[in-house]
Amino acid sequence: MDAAENALLTRVGPDTPMGGLLRRHWMPIAGSTEFSHNRIKPVRLMGEDLVLYKDLANTFGLVQRACAHRRADLSYGFVEKCGLRCNYHGWAYDETGQCIEMPYEDTVAPQTNYKRKIKILAYPVRVHAGLVWAYLGPQPIPELPDWEPFNWANGYRQIIISEVPCNWLQCQENSIDPVHFEWMHTNWSRRQAKLDAPLGPKHLQVAFDAFEHGFIYRRQREDLPPDHTMWSVGRVCLWPNCFFLGDHFEWRVPIDDENTLSVSWFFTRVPNEQEPFVQEEIPTWHGPLIDARTGRWISTHVMNQDFIAWVGQGRIADRTKERLGLSDRGVLMLRKQLHADLKSIERGEDPKGVIRDPGKNNNIALPIAEREFLQHGLSVEQMRENPTLSDHLKRFIFQAGQPRAVWDDFCKAMGIEGTPQADDREVIRT
Ligand code: FES
Ligand SMILES: [Fe+2]
Repeated sequence: MDAAENALLTRVGPDTPMGGLLRRHWMPIAGSTEFSHNRIKPVRLMGEDLVLYKDLANTFGLVQRACAHRRADLSYGFVEKCGLRCNYHGWAYDETGQCIEMPYEDTVAPQTNYKRKIKILAYPVRVHAGLVWAYLGPQPIPELPDWEPFNWANGYRQIIISEVPCNWLQCQENSIDPVHFEWMHTNWSRRQAKLDAPLGPKHLQVAFDAFEHGFIYRRQREDLPPDHTMWSVGRVCLWPNCFFLGDHFEWRVPIDDENTLSVSWFFTRVPNEQEPFVQEEIPTWHGPLIDARTGRWISTHVMNQDFIAWVGQGRIADRTKERLGLSDRGVLMLRKQLHADLKSIERGEDPKGVIRDPGKNNNIALPIAEREFLQHGLSVEQMRENPTLSDHLKRFIFQAGQPRAVWDDFCKAMGIEGTPQADDREVIRT
């Protein structure tokens, strides 16, 4: 890849081709329960500084951060019954960005109705599956995908958010990279625990296929039977910026060219004994990246290990210097599809993955290797006998920093003893 192509595929600002492509998809940007206490926060998305708030009528708004008047910071504004009011001179805006009040001007010159002429940038926001989603692209607005796990019963859900200091594309290339599991997760975890630990099972074959909503990768590993669902079903690189692993989604949402919001949504099936289980609210927590004791990246949890790979590649990976191998065929398919999508947009067509037909956007089925278990569950004893599922009952393996209250809530949902997690540790936020 030359430098020009690397720049083309990684720049996400409003006037860039890839910025245009990514803006044609809904992006999850927060958990809705984050706004129960603090109803407003600044967000930066694809290089744009914005404010996300929930007003007192519980309507979400996503508007530009600078007030139209004299550019004060609206993330310090106050939410009201309708919309958001600037803390400097009290101009107020609704969720469409329309100025609805100008206290001084409305008092001294109401006949001018000056406020009608003032509108700030505002983007559509929706809440679905406990996530707050934003659409920053052109009209008409596409469907917000209704993936089938969002509608499953009897599961404990949680949302995790982290800011990862590197470009989104190197994060997403990790979504179509089966071999890294063997090294980054299995072998590295073993060797962190014990320097001379034996290596885990090897990959013997990987395969990649395109489908309507992205790509699928499949693996043959020496410890798995040839007809294992890791080969017959596989995992999903969900288009354009998500990784779907059956029990969870990981979105890589560009903050700007050099930072990515990792937004993940987890579903843990409760044991059959706990049914029916209805979760009132989906907790959202922010995962720290740095280990306070060492000042180094946290490496104990699956996604933290991935973060280390991504940030290690640099703020924007220099693809002119990479030497691709045979395991990278999926990465090449992904890059090729991005080019094809850019061409589609040039022709005035939708890129891959945009859903327009509301009739098709209903509980959309995805390839799911553990479908049987995730939908129908097992008894707690059967879960304990399964090596993977029993790990999930001992600690939250995916990301570090889970608040104790969430773990306790999880254990209650699972009907198990809420013992402290083995690796609770002091961590600081970046
Ligand atoms: S700067 Fe916002 S009201 Fe004056
Ligand atoms: Fe990984």
